[in-house]
Amino acid sequence: MTDRALVDMAFAMLERSYVPYSHFPVGAALLCEDGTVYTGCNVENAAYGSTICAERTALVKAVSEGRKRFAAIAIAGRSEDYCWPCGACRQMLYEFAPELTVLVARADGQFVKLPLGELLPHGFGPANLD
Ligand code: THU
Repeated sequence: MTDRALVDMAFAMLERSYVPYSHFPVGAALLCEDGTVYTGCNVENAAYGSTICAERTALVKAVSEGRKRFAAIAIAGRSEDYCWPCGACRQMLYEFAPELTVLVARADGQFVKLPLGELLPHGFGPANLD
């Protein structure tokens, strides 16, 4: 799986987004260490706080199917700027994959690649509970 292919899978998920309130679609594609990919989109709700982001949709799909080891995630939006993951998504991803590679794309298809540790330095994870 190339970075470009994973980003393209995230872009494809924009069509599935349910965004009647923000009109801000986000797509994600989460690559497991075994090569499986779980995709996700944001799903909003009339009770706004019940909305789930694209990255967490992909993550809970993967974990609920028995996957817990992840290599990379691609996140795509339709905005001019890169579609940076929110704090809640950074935290949820950190739980399973503090070393995760994150590919963040913008509307023109360009993307940047960086480690999750750069987006969430000194993150709180399972080891902190030992
Ligand atoms: N959103 C995501 O899907 N992922 C993020 O990391 C940032 C925000 C969604 C949530 C909401 O549906 C819309 O973008 C606007 O905040």
